[in-house]
Amino acid sequence: MSLTVYFREPHVDPDYPPQYEAQAQPGDVLMRVGLSLGLDNLAADCGGNLTCATCHVIVDPVWASRLPPMSEDEDGMLDYAAAERQPTSRLSCQITLTPELDGLVVDLPPTQY
Ligand code: FES
Repeated sequence: MSLTVYFREPHVDPDYPPQYEAQAQPGDVLMRVGLSLGLDNLAADCGGNLTCATCHVIVDPVWASRLPPMSEDEDGMLDYAAAERQPTSRLSCQITLTPELDGLVVDLPPTQY
């Protein structure tokens, strides 16, 4: 079973449909899915080792509560994100996709540096 995730750029009105759509499999990591799209506002410099915070995304509030809670390490690293941290900010390398996340929408921050 494949699932679909959506990415939206920072300058876009939240009411506007997301611009980037990707097909993924359960078990895929959101950061890797985003990188496969070549998104400008996603870097993931540490390759998912939770040491860079350049994979910062802001989860659409509709979806935020459906994600597993973040770990203490993710919480701490998010404080180093270049763009201002938002209530639904997450590190995309820490989000493993499940069938329940089919349709997930995330916003990209204005910068990762
Ligand atoms: Fe570095 Fe996520 S890729 S913290």
